[in-house]
Amino acid sequence: MNTTPEPDVDVPVIDLPLPPPGTMGPPEEYGRLRRECPLAKVRLPIGATAWYATRYEDVKELVADSRLIRPSITDWPPRPGRAPGDEPGLITMMELEGPRHAALRRALSEPFSVRSIRSRLPRIRQSADRLLDPFVDGDRPGDLVGRFLEPFPITVMCDLVGIPYEDSGYFLPRADAALGALLTLEQGRGVTSQLRGYITSLLDRRRCEPGDDMLTKLVSECEHGTLDHESAVSFGLSMLVAGYRTSTMFLADAVLTLLTSPGEYARLRDHRDLLPGAVEELLRYLPVMNGVVVLQAVEDIELHGRTIRAGDAVLPVLAAANRDESVFADGDRLDLCRVDNPHLAFGRGAHNCVGSHLARAQMTVCLEALFDRLPQLRPAEDDHPVWEDESPSRSPRTLPVSW
Ligand code: HEM
Repeated sequence: MNTTPEPDVDVPVIDLPLPPPGTMGPPEEYGRLRRECPLAKVRLPIGATAWYATRYEDVKELVADSRLIRPSITDWPPRPGRAPGDEPGLITMMELEGPRHAALRRALSEPFSVRSIRSRLPRIRQSADRLLDPFVDGDRPGDLVGRFLEPFPITVMCDLVGIPYEDSGYFLPRADAALGALLTLEQGRGVTSQLRGYITSLLDRRRCEPGDDMLTKLVSECEHGTLDHESAVSFGLSMLVAGYRTSTMFLADAVLTLLTSPGEYARLRDHRDLLPGAVEELLRYLPVMNGVVVLQAVEDIELHGRTIRAGDAVLPVLAAANRDESVFADGDRLDLCRVDNPHLAFGRGAHNCVGSHLARAQMTVCLEALFDRLPQLRPAEDDHPVWEDESPSRSPRTLPVSW
C-alpha cells in the first residue's frame, strides 16, 4: 500500500536487529517490523544506514527489481579514501548486469542444472564419506563443523568448479578478508588483486590442461567468443566468496537444529522419503542469508509511503520474508512436512542463486551420510558450540557431537 511519501527526516532510524549472542535467529524483532514497520531504516554496525524490508511480498519484489543494483562488496558501505570514478573493487557475478551477466548465466545453466548435479551425486557422496571415515573412528566428542560440515561443501565446490582444494590455505583467508566489512581501502585492494590473480592463473592453466570442470567450460566459451574473460574471472571470484560459506552455514545450522529439536534427527533418519520436503523447510526456516543481500537504488522508489532515494541502500531480508505469517502458516515453527513452501532462500529474479540445486544436493547427501554413518549422532554433553557472532548471519563455528 503506497501513500504520500514522507521526507527522510521523519523516518526514525533503528539499530540493526540482531539475534541474541549464541543463537542463529532470526531476531524476534522481525515479527514486529513486518506488522508495524515493513520498511524500516536501520543503522548498520559500520555506521551507514539502509532500508530494511521484512514482508514477504516486498522482499520478493525488491530482490528482482531492476531499479536496484548490487554494489560490490568492496565498494559498499563506502570506505574513507574512495573517490567517485575509482576502479570498482571486487566484481563478482552478482555485480555483473545486462548481456554480460546473461551470457555467464547461460554458460553456467547446464553445469549447475538439476540433471548435471544429479549425475554427480555419487561423487558428492564419496567426498562426504572420505571426510567421515576418519571422523567416525576418531575421538569423541568431535567437532562436526571443523571436520565435516565446513570442508565438505568446499571440497564439492572445488571439484565441480576446478579449483584445487589443496589451495584452500591460500584462498580461504583472502576470501574471508574480502567479505569482512572492516577492511581499509588499501587492504581491500590488496586482497582483491590477489584473488583476481589466483583465478586468472587457474583459467590460464585450464587453457593448457582442460579438465571436467566449470572453469574449463568457461575457458572454451571465451575461446568461442560467447563469453568475455572478465566475466569468467568474476565467476571464479563468486565461487571463492559465495560458493561454500553459505552452504557451510546452512549445513551447520541444519544439523544443530535437527539435533536439538527432539526426535527430528531420528524421524528423518528413519523416513528418508521426507528428505526433499525437509530440505526445503530447512531452507525456509534457517536464517542463512539474514540481511546480507545489499542492493542500491539507481532511481527513487516509493514503498509504504516512504521514498527510497537513488543511492540509498536497501536490504530485502530473506530470513524475515521466510517467516511471514501471511504466506507461511505458523511461520516460526519448523515443520519438516510443510507442503506449500514458496520460500525465498535462494532469492529471485536475474540474480537468484545459481548454485541452488548444488546447495540442495549438498544438504541431502550430508544428511544421508550422517544418518548412515552416525545414526546415533547427538550434541556432546559437556562441550557447547562456539558461535560466529560478528555477522548478522549467525552460525555455529564449532559443533561438538558424540555418537
Ligand atoms: C544454502 C546455501 C545457499 C544459499 C541460501 C544461497 C543463497 C543465495 C541468494 C539469496 C542469492 C541471491 C543474492 C542476490 O539476490 O543478490 C545467491 C546468489 C548466488 N549464489 Fe547462492 N546460496 C547458497 C549456496 C550457493 C552455492 C553452493 C553456490 C555455488 C557453488 C552459490 C552461488 C551463488 C552465485 C554465483 C550467486 C550469484 C548469482 C548471480 O548473481 O547471477 N550459492 N545465493
